[in-house]
Amino acid sequence: MRKPIIAGNWKMYKNVQQTCAFFEEFLPLVSGSEHCDIVLCPTFVNLKSAVDHTAHTNVGIGGQNLFWEKEGAYTGEISAGMLTAIGCRWVLIGHSERRQYFGETDAAVGKKIGAALAAGLTPIVCVGELLAERERGNTHGVLETQFKDGIAPIGPENFAKIVIAYEPVWAIGTGKTATPEIAADAHRVIRRLVLESFGVSAAAQCRILYGGSVKPDNVKKLMVEEEIDGALVGGASLDPVSFASLVHF
Ligand code: PGA
Repeated sequence: MRKPIIAGNWKMYKNVQQTCAFFEEFLPLVSGSEHCDIVLCPTFVNLKSAVDHTAHTNVGIGGQNLFWEKEGAYTGEISAGMLTAIGCRWVLIGHSERRQYFGETDAAVGKKIGAALAAGLTPIVCVGELLAERERGNTHGVLETQFKDGIAPIGPENFAKIVIAYEPVWAIGTGKTATPEIAADAHRVIRRLVLESFGVSAAAQCRILYGGSVKPDNVKKLMVEEEIDGALVGGASLDPVSFASLVHF
């Protein structure tokens, strides 16, 4: 039985006051909800206040990125150990916006996963195809490359500790959700890749989230798919009532 995860990615939204206001409204709406892991990923500068607000609650906090070195002369970067030290338990890795706008490669994704695990964080590793790649019929090929080059090299022991998020880039922030069938099909492809690299039980246990325009009005249809183990949510995670209704899918 795979425990679902409902994770919110706040991207570059919300200042510290807005972060506090969110948690004051959100936490009472989800208190006692133990059927899924609830995760929120604010900006780096708001992690401390998010962690303070959620101490001793059922909500976990994550970073949106990290750098793989432990420390050093890397201006503007944040290490995995720094995230753990501030109270984070999760981290997003390889989000398509990191790949598209900041040149993140599969090799970098692999190194970031290793650093996250070494520091005790649970990485949510994002994969997914561009619209042009889907239109060319290359979705499976893209997922295969991202898996083989970014994820498979971490090895079986590490693999057991990560979460994968399938996020078709054409569905992110566009209002175009992948249909539950399209999403489930991609999840099956990913699970087959897991099976080929790490065997049957790794494939059965791996949690694969769907992300891309998940909203309160489409979450149920996605979550009834056996292949879909949760959601990674951008826009609809910014509002406490909307994100709470996703938690109560
Ligand atoms: P969206 O973003 O829900 O706003 O489409 C999802 C994501 O980028 O993780």
